[in-house]
Amino acid sequence: MDNQFWIDRWQNKETGWHRDNVHPLLFKLSEEFFEQPQQIFVPLCGKSLDMVWLAEKGHEIIGVELSPLAIEEFFEEQKLVPKKNQLGDFLSWQAGSYQILEGDFFNLTADFFAGNFKSCHCWYDRAAVIALPESLRNKYVEVIQMILPGARGLLISLSYDSASRQGPPFSLGDNEIKALWSAARKISAICTVASEIGKGKGSGQLPAFKPTNVTEHAFEICL
Ligand SMILES: C[S@@+](CC[C@H](N)C(=O)[O-])C[C@H]1O[C@@H](n2cnc3c(N)ncnc32)[C@H](O)[C@@H]1O
Repeated sequence: MDNQFWIDRWQNKETGWHRDNVHPLLFKLSEEFFEQPQQIFVPLCGKSLDMVWLAEKGHEIIGVELSPLAIEEFFEEQKLVPKKNQLGDFLSWQAGSYQILEGDFFNLTADFFAGNFKSCHCWYDRAAVIALPESLRNKYVEVIQMILPGARGLLISLSYDSASRQGPPFSLGDNEIKALWSAARKISAICTVASEIGKGKGSGQLPAFKPTNVTEHAFEICL
């Protein structure tokens, strides 16, 4: 699984993870979690409508996404015409409350982030870390820790009977998430819900994904 894998998924419209409504756990938790309007970093953002939900609550969104097609579709669907400009290694697309950086998340650096987004102290991860193979997950955590020191994050993870399927999405339950974020000041499980993913119902279905016991977990992480 390399960057081309994701570019191809968008090109071939194989984006079953995309929901046509806000994620139910974000719906339930966002007001309590992200109290004041603030900048929220959304790694591996795709064209998620969770960004729209957060923006409607008054937040400013900073996304990072590899696929220009995903970003183009996001702005088109939101009926916004973005301004584009080069920002370090990234192409920044900006309109309304959204700034999406086109490029590789793993090229983010502490200097770049502090220089451009120093007021950002929180992040939202849905289907980001669980989209990555094991070989990249620790690196993902290192990048978040490096660019967002002291920040607070809401992570929505997914776990299932992993013998039944290989990812993405990868199965990351309570123990795996806590181990991954073991250097954090605080990590706490907020809630777990049975997921409709894999049952062929609702939004964000993955056509070839039919595992058993799918649950989604929300965590609070404080760095
Ligand atoms: C499973 S999707 C989830 C998208 C979004 N978070 C959502 O909930 O709909 C993972 C996204 O990460 C993007 N992606 C994968 N690797 C990336 C990287 N290294 N840098 C930036 N984006 C990446 C993919 O193009 C894809 O849109």
